[in-house]
Amino acid sequence: MYTPAITGSGVFTPDNVITNAELVSAFNAYADKMNTQNADAIAAGDVEPMQHSSEEFILKASGIENRYVMDKAGVLDPDVMHPLFRQRSDDEPGIMTEMAVDACKKALAQAGRNGDDVDLVICAASNHERAYPAIAIEIQQALGCKGFGFDMNVACSSATFGIQAAADMVRSGSVKCALVVNPEICTGHLEWRDRDCHFIFGDVATATVIERIEDATGPHFEILSTSCATDFSNNIRNNNGFLRRTRPEGLTDRRDMQFMQNGRKVFKEVLPMVSKHIADHMDAEGISNADLKRLWLHQANKTMNDFIGKKVMGREPAPGEQPNILQDYANTSSAGSIIAFSKYSDDFTDGEIGLICSFGAGYSVGSVIVKRHG
Ligand code: COA
Repeated sequence: MYTPAITGSGVFTPDNVITNAELVSAFNAYADKMNTQNADAIAAGDVEPMQHSSEEFILKASGIENRYVMDKAGVLDPDVMHPLFRQRSDDEPGIMTEMAVDACKKALAQAGRNGDDVDLVICAASNHERAYPAIAIEIQQALGCKGFGFDMNVACSSATFGIQAAADMVRSGSVKCALVVNPEICTGHLEWRDRDCHFIFGDVATATVIERIEDATGPHFEILSTSCATDFSNNIRNNNGFLRRTRPEGLTDRRDMQFMQNGRKVFKEVLPMVSKHIADHMDAEGISNADLKRLWLHQANKTMNDFIGKKVMGREPAPGEQPNILQDYANTSSAGSIIAFSKYSDDFTDGEIGLICSFGAGYSVGSVIVKRHG
C-alpha cells in the first residue's frame, strides 16, 4: 500500500463577472416584460405577476456578491436568460475540456509534473456536456496523459468523491499519479428566470494532483483519510436527461429541466448531516477540533458555512479558519471547496492539519482530512 498526497491544485476562473446589481437589473427587466405580455391573464387572476428580485435579499440570504460566468451576454439578455455558447465541431476541444485543461496545467505546475506523468484522469462534475465519449478521456488526450480516464457525477460532492476514488487507487497501486478535475458550468443548468434561485451559481474549474507521497517534488498535503456518504432526497433535483424526448411534453420548456431546490428543507436537513459527518470522520481519525487549522467547506451559502464552522470548531471560527470564496464565485457546485483549498493553503506549515468538505444534491457529503508536509 502507498500513501496518497495532494501535490498540486489549480483554479480556472472565467473572464466575465456578473454583479448582483447587473443580475437583478436583468431579472427585473425580464419580469416586467413577462408581466406586460401576460397583462390580461394577470388582470383576470389567471396568472400570478412575477415579482422583482432584490440585491439586499441575495446578499442577506446567501452572502453572494458576484459570480464568474462563461457567457455574460445571454444570461443578462431579458430575451434569452441563459448562457449562449457557439457550436464547436467534434474536432475541437469541448468547452468543459478547455476549462479543465487550464485548471489541470496550473495544478500540474504546482506539483512539478507534466501531463505524461499522469496515469488517471477523473472528470468529476455535476454535469457533463455530452454523454460520451467521456470528457475525462478528451482531457487525457489534450494533456498527453497515460493510463485511463472516466467521468463521474455526485453533484456538489463530485470533487471530494473523485479525490477519494483517486486516493484509493494511488493507495492500492493501481495508478501512480491522478488528476481529479472539476469543470463546473453551473450557469448552464441554472434557471435564471426564477428569482428564488437565479443568484445561486457561477462557473469555474478546479483540479488536484494526487500521487504517491514519496513522489512529491515540493510541499504537499498527505491524505490522512477520506469519508463519503449519500442519502436519497428530492430536495435538490434536475430532471433533464437522455430520455427527455421519449416522454410526453419532454421537449417543452419545463421548469424541472433546470436546477430545482427546496432551499429551506435543504438548509434544515443538510446542516445536521454535514456536521455529524465531519464529527464522525474526525473521531474515527482521532482528530479533535484543536488539531484542525482550517476547514475548506463547500461554498453554497454563508450562513450554512458559519453554522458548520461553529459546530465543528466548538466555537466561532477565527478569521481564516473557515475561508469563504462564495462572495466572489457564488456556488460553483463541486469546485467550491477546492477553490477555497487552492487559494487558502499556502500558509500551512509542516504537520498542520485541515479538512475539505463538500455537500449537496443526493444528498451527498464528502470529507478529506489532509496533513501538510514541507
Ligand atoms: N429577491 C427578493 N425576494 C426573494 C428572492 C429574490 N431573489 N428570492 C426569494 N425571495 C423571497 C421569497 O419569495 C420569500 O418570500 P415570502 O416570505 O413572501 O414567501 C422570501 O424571499 C424568503 O424566501 P426563501 O426561499 O424562503 O429564502 P431563504 O431565506 O430560505 O433563502 C436560499 C434561500 C436558497 C438562499 C436558502 O434556502 C439556502 O441557502 N438554502 C441552502 C441550499 C443551497 O444553497 N443549496 C444550493 C445547492 S447545494
